[in-house]
Amino acid sequence: MKILPVSMPKDIDKYFFNRTKDINMINTQLSTVKLDIPPQLLITGYRGVGKTFLLKKVLNDQSSDVLTIFIDISEIMGRQKGNLTEEEVLKALLNAIDDAISQNKKYYKKWIGKIASSIKKLELKNYDFSDNVNVLDVPIPVISDNYDKLSKFTMELPQKIVDSSDEITGFIIVIDEFQLLKNVEDPEAFFWLIRSFTQKQFNVGYIFTGSVSKTADIINMINGQEGAFGGRLIQINVEPFTFDETKRYIDEKSNNLKFTDEGFKRFYNCTRGIPLYINSLSSILPNNIVCDEDIIRQTLQLNIDQVAIMWIYIWGRLSQGEKDFIIYLLEHEGATRATLDNQLGYSKSSVTRFIDSLSNQGIIEFNTMDKKFVLADKMLQFWLKIKLETNGCYPL
Ligand SMILES: Nc1ncnc2c1ncn2[C@@H]1O[C@H](COP(=O)(O)OP(=O)(O)OP(=O)(O)O)[C@@H](O)[C@H]1O
Ligand SMILES: [Mg+2]
Repeated sequence: MKILPVSMPKDIDKYFFNRTKDINMINTQLSTVKLDIPPQLLITGYRGVGKTFLLKKVLNDQSSDVLTIFIDISEIMGRQKGNLTEEEVLKALLNAIDDAISQNKKYYKKWIGKIASSIKKLELKNYDFSDNVNVLDVPIPVISDNYDKLSKFTMELPQKIVDSSDEITGFIIVIDEFQLLKNVEDPEAFFWLIRSFTQKQFNVGYIFTGSVSKTADIINMINGQEGAFGGRLIQINVEPFTFDETKRYIDEKSNNLKFTDEGFKRFYNCTRGIPLYINSLSSILPNNIVCDEDIIRQTLQLNIDQVAIMWIYIWGRLSQGEKDFIIYLLEHEGATRATLDNQLGYSKSSVTRFIDSLSNQGIIEFNTMDKKFVLADKMLQFWLKIKLETNGCYPL
């Protein structure tokens, strides 16, 4: 039986569908890494739309002369129990570089041992090194907690690796859930740090991605006029599957789902072409029964927690003010800033805080047409409505 995975599958190619246009667009940008033009991209898109999967696929398909690393800031933050520091991010980057070169050992016979052990020592000894150690001409930090040196060592390493190997022509670094970098001590300085090194690295490309709304202030911080990258990051938005793509996806990747025409319309309407929802709703629909509108509606109604599971976690971490903000938008189908200031019952500065935080998490977005803030995700709205209907109140 062919199934649609509800989490990130190990065998990417087996489950990955389409996205040819996005892949071509990203690969065109990335190919300049070999031509001494460092690609710098910002990939946005709704939660669950497939940014992470897409980038894993893109990295997977790079030729062996390009080294790639993928770091997920949410993982680092989880390990640090929510306390994210610049040092931890750099350490994770170093470990990922170490992994990348360890997997391609055969290319670096000459210096692999040296660099791998240096990186390990760096971690084991909390960056405390003996004097004047040089690896691939990069000075290693001598004093513990020397942030300057640690950052210089880490950020220069990828280009040094390219320069020291004839077989390697480029290095691509993906930073997933980059919006969480807002939690480091001085996020602006950190973005500027990355930017300052990227200017001198001609064969190292960076891709930032995360579930953040297009109008979030973190995007301004990194790529706005005053931001570290000052508009130089090429922004690509990953769109949900269209109606036809969703149909083809189901036809190609699943062999036990059947719909009436109206049933499929309803299915598309509920999932909005977002693969995360397509896969999770598919997993609870009855097998080999032709699903009509009613079956889709009832299944979703009864199992909404399974489909909207991500929102249960996210909801649990929001403050009461943020929840009130979301409920207000839900009940009023969006609201202007002035209305929120006057009606929400919170101070203007609190409203600003809620807007920043919720946009940075991709939960709300600003609709420039009618100048209203609206909820970005229909499944979140649906989940809240069903909870209200069944429990008589919104989730706590
Ligand atoms: N092109 C695709 N083909 C098949 N399945 C996909 C595709 N893109 C995404 N999916 C499915 O949707 C799920 C969610 O995708 P992914 O985690 O990449 O989304 P995301 O945009 O990174 O979400 P988030 O913003 O929450 O990090 C994946 O686990 C996968 O099962
Ligand atoms: Mg992701």
